[in-house]
Amino acid sequence: MQVVSTIAELRTRLADKRAIAFVPTMGNLHAGHLDLVRLARESVARGHGGCVVASIFVNPLQFGPNEDFDKYPRTLDADCARLEGSVDVVFAPSINEMYPAQQTVFVELPTIANEMEGATRPGHFRGMATVVLKLLNIVQPQVAVFGKKDYQQLHIIRQMVAQLNLPIRIVGGETVRAADGLALSSRNQYLSQAERGEAIFLYQTLQGMRLAILQGERDIERLQQQAVEALVARGWRAEYVAVRNQSDLQAASQSQRDLVILAAASLGNTRLLDNIEVCLAD
Ligand code: PAF
Repeated sequence: MQVVSTIAELRTRLADKRAIAFVPTMGNLHAGHLDLVRLARESVARGHGGCVVASIFVNPLQFGPNEDFDKYPRTLDADCARLEGSVDVVFAPSINEMYPAQQTVFVELPTIANEMEGATRPGHFRGMATVVLKLLNIVQPQVAVFGKKDYQQLHIIRQMVAQLNLPIRIVGGETVRAADGLALSSRNQYLSQAERGEAIFLYQTLQGMRLAILQGERDIERLQQQAVEALVARGWRAEYVAVRNQSDLQAASQSQRDLVILAAASLGNTRLLDNIEVCLAD
């Protein structure tokens, strides 16, 4: 495994590769990221010019002024140790390498980017999509893998790649969870012990909603409202709990069978995201 920090070094290293699978990350890797690497590895054959690249870059463009950019955990040495043997190249650029001049060109996104995460974090998806497009142009992979944990992000990336005609297959990796069900996230380490115990309630709430829908509940507004109230009653600050179509992330329509429930809520100073897919039988 080679760790490179410049675009020039990366291009040299990848020059003879016939198939590249790419996992973009912000580092502080956990088992969820390693599962994305596993999917990347499965998608390109080693020894046939196949190569797996992971990037580690905490992208300032996708953090708002009052967000955790400064305190976001940066653990490059530990991350590289975790990736050893699973990836061929780690691309860990500096901010200056990615943004040698002020970034004034951005990806303009569909209006879904202003809802849910986008409503609370204005500009987040614009910064995320812009860096992802830059990374895809730098690495030029055939396959790129993103986690379903960030479901709205994955949807926006799929739209960007399709509508901008990038010749890249986007693979969505299932959310990896702790034994009690909490979705793995680099931000879980901000939770106090008591908050960590409570954190599982978010996923339990989504599981309850899923079961209700599978059992025939169709009053989506009421379900969403009840979930928010249940979270608030236990001390959460609930931002949204939304039942959407998987296909376009618009409000769930009666004709759609494949739904997803997405939620964001904070415990203390820690903001948690989760989602669960619901597929109705035909
Ligand atoms: O999901 C993430 O870790 C980031 O949003 C990504 C895709 C690496 C872009 O910075």
